[in-house]
Amino acid sequence: MRSQADRGRSLFCFYRLFLVAAAATLLLCDEAAAQGTSCGKLVPGQVDPVTVAAVRSSTNSSIIVDWLPPDRGITGYFYTLSCPSCPTQQLNASDETYTFRGLTAATEYSFSIQAGLRNCRLSPAFHLSRRTELSNIPGPVHISDVTETSFRARWAASPDVGVEYEVSCAGRVPDTTAVCTGQPSGASVTVTVRPVKTGFPPAPFIHGTALTKLFPIDASLVSFTITETSISLTWAASITEGVLYRVTCRRVSTGTSTSLPPSKYLSASISSLQSGEAYNLSVAVTKQGGFDEVVTWLPIQLTKLFGIDASSAQYSSNETAISVTWQPSSTSGVSYQLTCKRVGSGEVSTASSSTPSGTCGSLQSGQEYELRVAVQKAGGFDDVITALSNQLTNGNRGSCATADWLQFNGFCYLLVKGSNGRNLTAAVSDCQRRDPSAHLLWITSQSEMNWVMDYSARNWRLREDYRAQCQDCRFQGDAAWTGLYRYEADGGKFKWLRDNSSVNVSISWLVGPSRPPMNFGLLFDAQTRLMWRTYQPEARHFHFCKAPVRVQQPETAGTDAADAAQEKTVRTRCPSAAWSPISGRPGASLQMCYMKLYPGSFPQAREECRRWAPNADILPARSLHGLSRFDRRILFLHVCYIANKTGKSDS
Ligand SMILES: *[C@@H]1O[C@H](CO)[C@@H](O)[C@H](O)[C@H]1NC(C)=O
Ligand SMILES: *[C@@H]1O[C@H](CO)[C@@H](O)[C@H](O)[C@H]1NC(C)=O
Ligand SMILES: *[C@@H]1O[C@H](CO)[C@@H](O)[C@H](O)[C@H]1NC(C)=O
Ligand SMILES: *[C@@H]1O[C@H](CO)[C@@H](O)[C@H](O)[C@H]1NC(C)=O
Ligand SMILES: *[C@@H]1O[C@H](CO)[C@@H](O)[C@H](O)[C@H]1NC(C)=O
Ligand SMILES: *[C@@H]1O[C@H](CO)[C@@H](O)[C@H](O)[C@H]1NC(C)=O
Ligand SMILES: *[C@@H]1O[C@H](CO)[C@@H](O)[C@H](O)[C@H]1NC(C)=O
Ligand SMILES: *[C@@H]1O[C@H](CO)[C@@H](O)[C@H](O)[C@H]1NC(C)=O
Repeated sequence: MRSQADRGRSLFCFYRLFLVAAAATLLLCDEAAAQGTSCGKLVPGQVDPVTVAAVRSSTNSSIIVDWLPPDRGITGYFYTLSCPSCPTQQLNASDETYTFRGLTAATEYSFSIQAGLRNCRLSPAFHLSRRTELSNIPGPVHISDVTETSFRARWAASPDVGVEYEVSCAGRVPDTTAVCTGQPSGASVTVTVRPVKTGFPPAPFIHGTALTKLFPIDASLVSFTITETSISLTWAASITEGVLYRVTCRRVSTGTSTSLPPSKYLSASISSLQSGEAYNLSVAVTKQGGFDEVVTWLPIQLTKLFGIDASSAQYSSNETAISVTWQPSSTSGVSYQLTCKRVGSGEVSTASSSTPSGTCGSLQSGQEYELRVAVQKAGGFDDVITALSNQLTNGNRGSCATADWLQFNGFCYLLVKGSNGRNLTAAVSDCQRRDPSAHLLWITSQSEMNWVMDYSARNWRLREDYRAQCQDCRFQGDAAWTGLYRYEADGGKFKWLRDNSSVNVSISWLVGPSRPPMNFGLLFDAQTRLMWRTYQPEARHFHFCKAPVRVQQPETAGTDAADAAQEKTVRTRCPSAAWSPISGRPGASLQMCYMKLYPGSFPQAREECRRWAPNADILPARSLHGLSRFDRRILFLHVCYIANKTGKSDS
């Protein structure tokens, strides 16, 4: 349009000049010139050009142009302003200012100003150019895709052609979005954006604020200390600075939760929890200033189960079974497993129950068992194991050479008394005569040593019986030979006669080993306990024999008639050697036979007692003062006894 009008005007002028030239007449285009009017000072018939013009100001859609008239002496000028690319192409005005409106932002415009005067030719053009401002873009800057160290910023597009955007955290970008990386975590980052175009002044800034995320804690670096009722945890600090930590603990089964106040410390402890429950814990990283907290859920933690109180256990046993009852665990919903492991072997019997009791069955008779109770709970809880005291099954007397032998852990033991006792050589022969596989006592484990030395359980009565029966009482030994000896040729090491094996259990000496020839060990009755000492081998003492339990039926061992008769004087009055006799004083008549039974309920003990002898019964507790000199621990046992109805213990 503009160029067409321009062209039209030029053609018009050219046409007039052409006509004048054709007529060979120097005619002026301008009527004023033809009339001789002075139009300007420079060229006749033509108005002088504007020499002072400037753009006063510009906006994104307008440009204001000011100028001065060519000659102040002349009035009545008009001006023709051309702007080829403006919406208004050309206009006449008499003012010395003009505002071009409706322009396109961020665009360069060229103007020309020609002055005109009635009947004069238009002056040459004064040219000037100016750029419109860039368009503003509406704020704010929108933030999205926030991570700990980056975010995306978006903003409204500028309508202007050829603009880019200057972003405070990403530099100059062509699009209306940018990703800002490498930002600090847990920080409030202000983002500014403005449209820019080379050669144009930038548009105003728009703003946005990004809150970068907090770094959570690392669940794999959390350590726990857990008891029955508390959980303590320690974690590694979040990478984000200036944060607080909030620990939450929720009981899985009920959903009840506890939240500790936020703290800057890297550990926390939650107490008053329930034993044997699962807890879902979390550590939230928080920061003031509008930051979202970031929660790390930790693996489910289980509080421990309460074990049982070993001292609450009550035991009873027969030949093949051991029964135990105990106080229940303080943890609810638990079950129990009783395990009985035969000492010195891998044999294990177990019994599970939901009540606080159990019976191990199918056990071997006359054996010692290690007992343990495991408190268990389904759901991944660790068993809590409590060791109980070892228990014995009742002996199977048939598997030793004769019923007199006591059984313990697969071996038979016999204390041979006789009126005067025997020298060491005769004692060895005696054992081997009773059972070819027997020898003087040897001991290979501490539990066996403890069993032998348990004065309360087996009152061997070495002192009383020796003194009551000795005819040649020179040695006054109150003792019994064992197979212990000192081997001078091997540096004085102690060995067992049976197989020359070294002694690998500890020995409680009454008197430390005496010098040769007192190289042979015996057990000495120190009244409230048995102690070891050495003596010369020709001394005559009682002796202890030991033999492995027989697998086959026992054979009847030949017995020395004289010794048998002597032993009979002690033994026959009680039903068997399992019973201990009590006399008022040495040599006096028998008052009572008794044996100790391991703990159990009263009815169980009575039943057990009657199995040993039909006329036996449980000794009433009030009569126990008569036994207390042997051992106070007897009070914890049931004592089975046989006595004349009128008989009374008087010592
Ligand atoms: C401008 O003024 C001149 C002289 O008066 C006139 O010839 C011309 O047509 C005008 N142009 C417009 C666009 O009004
Ligand atoms: C143009 O500038 C004016 C004044 O500065 C402003 O109010 C207006 O919003 C701007 N328009 C655009 C599209 O940028
Ligand atoms: C622990 O709590 C969280 C959040 O409520 C939950 O997503 C998760 O599944 C819970 N874990 C368990 C094992 O209940
Ligand atoms: C031993 O006790 C168990 C459990 O009380 C019982 O089942 C078994 O019959 C008893 N055995 C004998 C030989 O009494
Ligand atoms: C002691 O020695 C015996 C026999 O050599 C062996 O069976 C036993 O395990 C040993 N005991 C210890 C505690 O070393
Ligand atoms: C033990 O050692 C003695 C002396 O060296 C020897 O006479 C005896 O045969 C040995 N006994 C055994 C069972 O090895
Ligand atoms: C041991 O006693 C037996 C039998 O009484 C006797 O024959 C033997 O000579 C005694 N030996 C010693 C060393 O006293
Ligand atoms: C019972 O008394 C009689 C007569 O006094 C006595 O011979 C017998 O040994 C006593 N029995 C027991 C078991 O005490």
